[in-house]
Amino acid sequence: MKVGILSGGGDAPGINAVIRAAVRKGIRNYGYEIVGIRDGWQGLIEGKFIPLDLEAISGLLPRGGSVLGTSRTNPFKHEGGAQKILKNVEKNDLGAVIVIGGEDTLGVAYKLYEKGLTCVAVPKTIDNDLAGTDYTVGFNTAVHIATEALDRLHTTAETHHRVIILEVMGRYTGWIALEVGIAGGADVILIPEKPFDIDEVCGYIKQRQNRGKPFSLIVVAEGAKPKGCKEIVYSAGVDEFGHPRLGGVGYYIGKEIEKRTDIETRVVVLGHLQRGGSPTVFDRVLATRYGIAAIDLIHKDQFGRMVALQGKKIVSVPFKNVINVRKTVDLRLYEIAKIFFG
Ligand code: F6P
Repeated sequence: MKVGILSGGGDAPGINAVIRAAVRKGIRNYGYEIVGIRDGWQGLIEGKFIPLDLEAISGLLPRGGSVLGTSRTNPFKHEGGAQKILKNVEKNDLGAVIVIGGEDTLGVAYKLYEKGLTCVAVPKTIDNDLAGTDYTVGFNTAVHIATEALDRLHTTAETHHRVIILEVMGRYTGWIALEVGIAGGADVILIPEKPFDIDEVCGYIKQRQNRGKPFSLIVVAEGAKPKGCKEIVYSAGVDEFGHPRLGGVGYYIGKEIEKRTDIETRVVVLGHLQRGGSPTVFDRVLATRYGIAAIDLIHKDQFGRMVALQGKKIVSVPFKNVINVRKTVDLRLYEIAKIFFG
């Protein structure tokens, strides 16, 4: 059988490790022929493939990004896109497709599965907001990178007696902000799930000042918003899945803090540094387990399912349990974080 693999949406460290594992087991154990599909759904619309043999996957384990490329293409927003995909799958004799992606890419997989595409999915997004799984590929690496950044900001904030705001990714959920904030000892953590009150934020900073701590560290998710307001967008317009480009909430908060307190404030937007480079040990192992589980699902003809980590076990869940359900942060963890605010 011929199996295709694609990665869609934002890249995340560990995608290549998924590809490597699926190709290795697919060829070695099942005798499959594996092809890579270029640039997510775009490559399947256009029929752009690359062969993936054992030589092609050599050295992929620690490599960041995706050797297949990616795109935020939504085939349902392109004239005849879904039909072209189904035709290309048939024409190229693909018996199954492994889809590595987040909510948008997997949403498309679900719709195409219902139209007859035999596919399975691997959860990947640094945001960790996919339902059905405890962890998505790339999240752990993003948290590590951002925690290192926060540790570094800690020493300079303390030395200069400043407030430093670290803006991290997290469009609709605050998983990265929350874990980084707890791990790096943030004095305030702001997440999309909990709209904030700027006076309360300043209250925490003043509280610290009053107990002889003239510096503070704030971690804010890009999708966090002041109470009663919308998210702060970087530019007008939305992508093919209807998402705005976020960014800048850190600067908004920084200006408000300087206005309301007498403390000098600086802002660091970590951005795509969180997505680039080599995956952590955790992500390498998780990605490897996911890649193996995905090819195993195909071998067992269990299509329309996403591999997942629940507790310590790799399981699989039907697409319908994952799509249109967002996994927001565990608010009990937020309550723990709040003990350290101010
Ligand atoms: O979906 C993951 C994510 O990293 C979000 O946290 C972020 O808002 C978005 O991707 C940024 O995407 P782009 O790479 O298109 O700037």
